[in-house]
Amino acid sequence: MKTHLETKALFAGYNPADNHGAVKPPMHPASTFVFPSAAVGAAHMETAYGVEGAETPPEGGFIYSRLGNPTLSVAEARLAAWDESDAAALFASGMAAISTMLFALTGAEKPLWYVGPLYGGTQHIIDDILPSMGVSVRRLENLDELASLSESDGLPGMIYLETPANPTLQIHSIKTAADWAKKYTSEDHRIIVAVDNTFLGPILQRPLELGADLNIYSATKYIGGHSDLIAGAVSGEAEAMAKVFEYRTFFGGMADPYTSWMLARSMETLQVRIDRQISSTRLILDHIQVVPGTPVAGINKIYSAWAEDLEGSGDKKSAQISREQQANGGAMFAMEIPGGRKAAFAFLDALQHIQLAVSLGSTESLAEHPYSMTHAGVPVDEKLRHGITEGLVRISIGLEHPDDLIADLDQALKAACLVCEESLECV
Ligand SMILES: Cc1ncc(COP(=O)(O)O)c(C=O)c1O
Repeated sequence: MKTHLETKALFAGYNPADNHGAVKPPMHPASTFVFPSAAVGAAHMETAYGVEGAETPPEGGFIYSRLGNPTLSVAEARLAAWDESDAAALFASGMAAISTMLFALTGAEKPLWYVGPLYGGTQHIIDDILPSMGVSVRRLENLDELASLSESDGLPGMIYLETPANPTLQIHSIKTAADWAKKYTSEDHRIIVAVDNTFLGPILQRPLELGADLNIYSATKYIGGHSDLIAGAVSGEAEAMAKVFEYRTFFGGMADPYTSWMLARSMETLQVRIDRQISSTRLILDHIQVVPGTPVAGINKIYSAWAEDLEGSGDKKSAQISREQQANGGAMFAMEIPGGRKAAFAFLDALQHIQLAVSLGSTESLAEHPYSMTHAGVPVDEKLRHGITEGLVRISIGLEHPDDLIADLDQALKAACLVCEESLECV
């Protein structure tokens, strides 16, 4: 019998028979676990530390919650089920996941190549921390550059990308990076492709199926989904994941039992949340565009990861990639309002249903000003290169009734228009 992903993920990692028939998994806040005997304890610990000649411990036992915890295991099994990956590791934040993964799999002999733009925290690790630890870093302007590079240019240990990228939803072809990495991977030199899939999540974009090795999330966003926890995840191929688990054990950045329990619960509603978020987003995008790719009066430019909007705006290449690697364009978009910061702030301050806050992927809709908020630390020329102007606002669509969100956007655009000195042609 074929079982759909959302059915599998709902039950993954938990058997009620193990807990008095309780339909939901319990939370295990224990920091440490009683060994049935000293010999089993020694087998567990010596195996965990890789001691030569260690006895094989019984399967499924726990030692100490930094190394593994039953509640963490349930949540990890659910994410691995969603991603159909060999394994998933949950972390205390998206940044804990990204930094641990980068430290585990790059090094002096394993340079990092990446394509921007990236989330600011990731960019900071790549620019300021990895080089100080002896990792050489190369920025690619776009993945087409790979076509002109080969072994004689030196090979990377990892290619890292974020797609769609924050905040202007720039799209990169995962397959281009994965195919190139496969071509130059040999027995002595593996090239890992790691994709930050935070903006779409496991249902709308499946990097592992496109040949990537690791799928990364700020689980604070769609996977947690309720703006009530901070978490991160790395999910993917077994050998790369073994290194990620090893480094997580020693860096200690695992998700705690309470966060794990919340994540396991949140992942049960991932499909219904994203279905509603994307249907509302499409209605809103249709409302604020005359035709896909052409914004209504009062908006300069709309940034969307939906193929029809990209096609309409003339970006045929991104439209093609969007169609190939995404189920659709997701529930994030950004728009540039004429009138710069003054008009953008008037818009944000006028919103009544949409909350003025950073972050994304939650039940409530959220709006923010990337120039002065999420991307405040990015140099101005870099911001402008990526379209992050003073007039740009980024919006994450939640579960409110779409008509209420459309009415809210309309009235906030009117408020922005009233203070806009640039354009008199308003909504
Ligand atoms: C694309 C992306 N990756 C990673 C992160 C970092 O995640 P966290 O805030 O959970 O550490 C964020 C946070 O906004 C993000 O947007």
